Amino acid sequence: YAVKLLVTGGAGYVGSVCAARLVEAGHEVVVVDDLSTGHADAVPDGCRFVEGDLADVAGSLLGEGFDGVLHFAAKSLVGESMQDPAKYWHGNVITSVRLLDAMREHGTPRLVFSSTAATYGEPDVVPIPETAATQPTNTYGATKLAIDYAITSYAAAHGLAAVSLRYFNVAGAHGRFGERHATETHLIPLVLQVALGQREQVQIYGEDWPTEDGTCVRDYIHVTDLADAHLLALDHAKPGEHQIYNLGNGTGFSVRQVIDTCRAVTGHPIPAAVAPRRAGDPAVLIASSEQARVQLGWKPERASLETIVADAWRFTRERHQG
Ligand code: UFG
Repeated sequence: YAVKLLVTGGAGYVGSVCAARLVEAGHEVVVVDDLSTGHADAVPDGCRFVEGDLADVAGSLLGEGFDGVLHFAAKSLVGESMQDPAKYWHGNVITSVRLLDAMREHGTPRLVFSSTAATYGEPDVVPIPETAATQPTNTYGATKLAIDYAITSYAAAHGLAAVSLRYFNVAGAHGRFGERHATETHLIPLVLQVALGQREQVQIYGEDWPTEDGTCVRDYIHVTDLADAHLLALDHAKPGEHQIYNLGNGTGFSVRQVIDTCRAVTGHPIPAAVAPRRAGDPAVLIASSEQARVQLGWKPERASLETIVADAWRFTRERHQG
């Protein structure tokens, strides 16, 4: 059955892929985005697009009547969150509380929220279950955790049906939708810029970590698999409950393994140089997504790192060729 959904941040990387999947599934989708980091041409065909600040337009938009909100709009750079915390407390927390108030006022029943592995900080258990301690090591993670707390209390008090999805390292592309940040900080797109000839070499942030090859280990998840989890979450949201799920593949790859996979996929030598550690990086982040599999019935179909990198590479080359 088709429903009417508001997708905040639908001009961004994960939001645009998810909006595309929702349109493919036959839903009516309205995208709201202020284009501070997103791109108008990333809004999928078939969506109505409202350009504006979510905090300002949420009330009037939701007054139209919606079956649910998928809330992707956020500031998401860890480094920037330490330099300019106000941008994160306002842009993420205040804006999200405004959204929750507008949903409450207009009786919007369901919410799926983009939370993050950064809410856990330096993990004490690997793979990380949802019951792990939440001790964020950066402002970005702290703001996402604060929003999770707000959602929990709104759900309990006002009957909202809510699901938070805690993403691990999202990568790959879905058709013409992929990662294209003005300021790129993520490993895979940076490595692919080297293969494309846009960058001389990639820097490895430390090789003295307590891991097998000394470089940081992350759990990479394909953006299409991630988007599919949002559709399942919408179906499984229950009034008065706030469910939280980790989303990753449960397998860790080191920075060197990622670079090697990019070399194999692109056929480019991709020079790499060791640089100092980056502040705030945990050594190992691997998800336990048992709960998402068991309770949502989520089955990632593009789990191999080769597939993830190959899709990102196809997207990168197609965009480069115009
Ligand atoms: N890295 C390098 N060189 C680079 C870029 C990254 O060695 O040029 C390393 C990082 O140190 C890290 C790994 O590659 O060990 C992955 O880094 P990313 O920046 O791609 O991703 P992060 O793991 O830092 O961050 C991601 C999301 C965040 C989220 C976090 C949750 O991008 O939004 O996972 O832990 F908060």
